[in-house]
Amino acid sequence: MLISKLRLKNFRNYAEEEFEYSSGVNIISGGNAQGKTNSVEAIFLLCTGYSPKARRDKQLIRTGETSAKIEADAVSAYGKVNVSMDFYSDRNKEAKVNGIPVAKIGELLGNINSVLFTPSELKLVQDAPEDRRRFLDISLSQISRGYFYALQKYKKILSQRNNLLKSEDRDMILDTLPVWDVSLAAAGAKIVYLRNDFIKTLSPLATESHAAISDGEEELSVECDYKYEGGEEDICEQLKNALKERMEKDIELGYTTVGPHRDDLKIKVNGTDVRVFGSQGQQRTAALSLKIAETEIFRQKFGEYPVLILDDALSELQRSRREKLLSVAEKMQTIITCTEPEMIENHGKYNNIRIKNGEIIR
Ligand SMILES: Nc1ncnc2c1ncn2[C@@H]1O[C@H](COP(=O)(O)OP(=O)(O)OP(=O)(O)O)[C@@H](O)[C@H]1O
Ligand SMILES: [Mg+2]
Repeated sequence: MLISKLRLKNFRNYAEEEFEYSSGVNIISGGNAQGKTNSVEAIFLLCTGYSPKARRDKQLIRTGETSAKIEADAVSAYGKVNVSMDFYSDRNKEAKVNGIPVAKIGELLGNINSVLFTPSELKLVQDAPEDRRRFLDISLSQISRGYFYALQKYKKILSQRNNLLKSEDRDMILDTLPVWDVSLAAAGAKIVYLRNDFIKTLSPLATESHAAISDGEEELSVECDYKYEGGEEDICEQLKNALKERMEKDIELGYTTVGPHRDDLKIKVNGTDVRVFGSQGQQRTAALSLKIAETEIFRQKFGEYPVLILDDALSELQRSRREKLLSVAEKMQTIITCTEPEMIENHGKYNNIRIKNGEIIR
């Protein structure tokens, strides 16, 4: 996967700018608040329709403007592709692939694949299970549209089931719940099945890349924190049983307490929970290793690496870890942001882009 150009118009702090990336490592440098993260946010939006930063699309439009446009030219194993997105202050965004509007964000997925690391990705190995589920959901949605659609369906049924659980009418709850449970378990089973498969592949790859970056000093392990196993039908049965078992509790609490929306990953370094005991550098190495492992999964699945985006990934890492990370990054198109290019050994051999106040310094 190769992104050759990115055009931004009235996006965040950019008026109008065009980035040209090379096929290897690209270093985007500049002081704080100059627009480095904004530029990679645009790429990730074109890949997934999802902003890691913005809660509302309106925030993406340059202050004082009423619309914004982002557009990328890319080349994948399937050929050339152009993806664009228009944002408006008064209506929903519009995405296009090769100039043709896509009706659903699901159709955007898979046109340009990228794996993104930002400092907020550290939440993956720190705080709440939501962030680990988000990691699974975003990775898997890019890999499988079936996952994306099952997830959308699951969320919809889940919210209907939760509404029902809040009802005062116990008889109605008892009558209707089994119907919801059948469809919730079916959508949930697809999600869990694909997650299991993903984690089974991801885990040894993440262990391997963590060992490589830490020069064999540390061992990372990744496991599911739940036990639904087997094929999709087996998992469906297990989920139905779990829902039945928790029924009284769910009614009492007024929401669904079991299922893939509650599942988590266990991430350990040298046998201890990295959330609780990991140092900053260890946590960063672990989060990066998960991302590197994700790039390998893309390669296995699609026959080519995704674009790796490393936003402010290198700070807190000792020199040897930075160098190891760079040597992995060299295997694919990588876009690295940092404040000082000098943080990167031999940065002169890479494509360097310097940004100031939403403009490339030429
Ligand atoms: N909609 C918008 N319109 C205009 N400016 C915006 C908009 N959204 C964000 N900005 C500006 O963009 C700047 C931040 O850009 P960005 O997050 O890309 O910085 P950065 O170069 O990654 O900095 P750092 O090194 O601190 O991470 C901020 O100054 C912010 O005010
Ligand atoms: Mg930034």
